[in-house]
Amino acid sequence: MNKPTNRVFSGVQPTGNLHLGNYLGAIRNFVGLQESHECLYCVVDMHAITVWQDPAELAANTREVAAAYIAAGIDPEKHIIFNQSGVPAHAELAWVLNCVARIGWLNRMTQFKDKAGKDREKASVGLYAYPVLMAADILVYQATHVPVGEDQKQHLELARDVAQKFNNDFAVPDFFPQPEPLIMGAATRVMSLRDGTKKMSKSDPSDLSRITMKDSAEDIAKKIRKAQTDPDPLPETVEGLAGRAGADNLVGIYAALADKTKAEVLAEFGGRQFGEFKPVLADLAIERLSPITGEMKRLMDDPGHIDAVLRNGAVRARAIADPIMARVREIVGFI
Ligand code: TRP
Repeated sequence: MNKPTNRVFSGVQPTGNLHLGNYLGAIRNFVGLQESHECLYCVVDMHAITVWQDPAELAANTREVAAAYIAAGIDPEKHIIFNQSGVPAHAELAWVLNCVARIGWLNRMTQFKDKAGKDREKASVGLYAYPVLMAADILVYQATHVPVGEDQKQHLELARDVAQKFNNDFAVPDFFPQPEPLIMGAATRVMSLRDGTKKMSKSDPSDLSRITMKDSAEDIAKKIRKAQTDPDPLPETVEGLAGRAGADNLVGIYAALADKTKAEVLAEFGGRQFGEFKPVLADLAIERLSPITGEMKRLMDDPGHIDAVLRNGAVRARAIADPIMARVREIVGFI
């Protein structure tokens, strides 16, 4: 079997409230890999159900992420857009890998500790095994590169360990490649607009904390106007942002949207007040986001079309995964 050297896999969870952090930290980075790589972009609905999801909302949110992929500029003809549950090999490989991964490895996962909170006994078994399903997502395509946010680095390391242990245990050196993380962009971490020390999050009770992919131009302008900052003018240098989380966040968002570094943004705006900077940032955000949110809305009005894209993607994804899964079955000794 020919092993790919430039196959990209990544996923976004359909848990609703898709926001600027998802766009700048993930989806936007997926777009740029299409020229150089063979890309699979997945809507990870099986990961979403590790915490309770209302079934009707799950379906709508799955379509929303698919629409965001397409609207952001991922070409579903040249590359593959699909939902995870449409390719049974993810779940099948995840089981095998559950038997390769060690409980001690999972016990070290910080995201599980954060998400499970104090009452760990009440978390689903799926939430605990989540990183192993993520490893299966990647390895079932023998993907070589994985664009992810900083917060997923630990999970990717686990995927590398699982790949290596499988190869060792079954004496199949190089069967699973070691997937490389691609951590990208100036604003891979977009913070809450109400508290620059917390990540922008779908579950923050304050709507003002995040810019969503459904926001109108007026919503975007209002949220940036109300964003938490301090009374000082913008600093001249990046070092001057230390201890000023709200300011740092807005400069980071501007830099990401303008494809500049923070230093370049501060060279331009250093010394100016937020009263001046915020409207410029709002205009830029609206200019960059409205074409995408407008296209998303158009796509969401035709769910039949989105479903057809996902089904077609799943057929093509299965064609890649099934032969690899068939080899796994042989390697493990399933007859
Ligand atoms: N865990 C990732 C997140 O929440 C989503 C994800 C699932 C993923 N499977 C993946 C990302 C495989 C990269 C590769 O952001």
